[in-house]
Amino acid sequence: MNTSVTTIERFIMDQEDRYPDATGELSNLLYDLALGTKMIAAAIRRAGLVDVLGSNHTDNVQGEEQQKLDVLANDIIKNSLSHTGRVCVMCSEEENEIIPVPEEYEAGKYAVLFDPLDGSSNIDVNSAVGTIFSIYRRISLEGRGTMADILQPGCKQVAAGYVMYGSSTMMVYTTGQGVHGFTLDPTIGEFLLSHPRIITPRVGKYYSVNESNFARWDRPMQHVVRGLHGDRPDEITGKNSRYIGSLVADFHRNLIAGGVFLYPADTKNPRGKLRLLYEAAPMAFIAEQAEGSATDGVNRILDIEPTGLHQRTPLVIGSRNDVGYVADTLRRQMVPSRPAEPLQAPVL
Ligand code: AHG
Ligand code: MN
Ligand code: MN
Repeated sequence: MNTSVTTIERFIMDQEDRYPDATGELSNLLYDLALGTKMIAAAIRRAGLVDVLGSNHTDNVQGEEQQKLDVLANDIIKNSLSHTGRVCVMCSEEENEIIPVPEEYEAGKYAVLFDPLDGSSNIDVNSAVGTIFSIYRRISLEGRGTMADILQPGCKQVAAGYVMYGSSTMMVYTTGQGVHGFTLDPTIGEFLLSHPRIITPRVGKYYSVNESNFARWDRPMQHVVRGLHGDRPDEITGKNSRYIGSLVADFHRNLIAGGVFLYPADTKNPRGKLRLLYEAAPMAFIAEQAEGSATDGVNRILDIEPTGLHQRTPLVIGSRNDVGYVADTLRRQMVPSRPAEPLQAPVL
């Protein structure tokens, strides 16, 4: 038995110790999130035994049906953060507006954005789901925190991470010093360091996309995916397909084993389906820190200036060469717009 383990708390503190000016607040905030997600993991483990499965009979701001666990996970994360004095404002997939911390609590210097339960269509069938979070330093100078603290481009994130509630529960995060993974030991209730310094393979084995949308993609995207099938060996070696329908689980597999995840725009979702602030941007920060990359097809996700809380974006993320293949192919395939025909003088 290994008697020397590194808990997430010790690891976070050790990392911060390298910075003499650090106050410990970010470390504590990450630890607050670890605690909240342990509570969510416990609720998910008991799902089926207690009454937390199924619809909540409400819709979120995006018109999607909320599951009971979406609402429970949202409450757990908010409650883990509100009272700490470390956060001024929050933003959640499940809430229409920004969530300033309540007046009775001190407002801190961080803005936290989250998808409390990602992949919620998988809950009722006992498949992997997750929680995604993104942290920014506030830019407003006082008070409870504002929209400006939330609407920052992904390159300004100070930390991002996810927790995957899978065959085991794992937390993976970055503070800009590499990506580190922790596995929850349920016997002692602690996240223990299991995957230090994750580097994703340069070329992946897998591609992950919802192929049922194929007919709704534009031709350049269809060309890209045919390449991933192996139909264009002069351009790219074909890959194996894996798709769960839970961004956290699909991203995590590709991060570890190498691969590319795509959720392109289609005629049903003309701006893509995934949300920039609490899905694409945090995953993009993690991907880049693991030496992978993330684009909306051609542009870097972390450079996009957000304009709305629940804004969507196409997403191509994972192994660097594969994301590069997609961008190069899309650029090549995009037909330059034809110059307008010169006006003909009418024949009299
Ligand atoms: P959420 O459950 O937070 O709404 O997210 C669902 C997302 C994401 O996890 C996944 O990658 C994608 O929806 C799957 O969409 P399709 O079912 O259209 O493939
Ligand atoms: Mn989601
Ligand atoms: Mn969600």
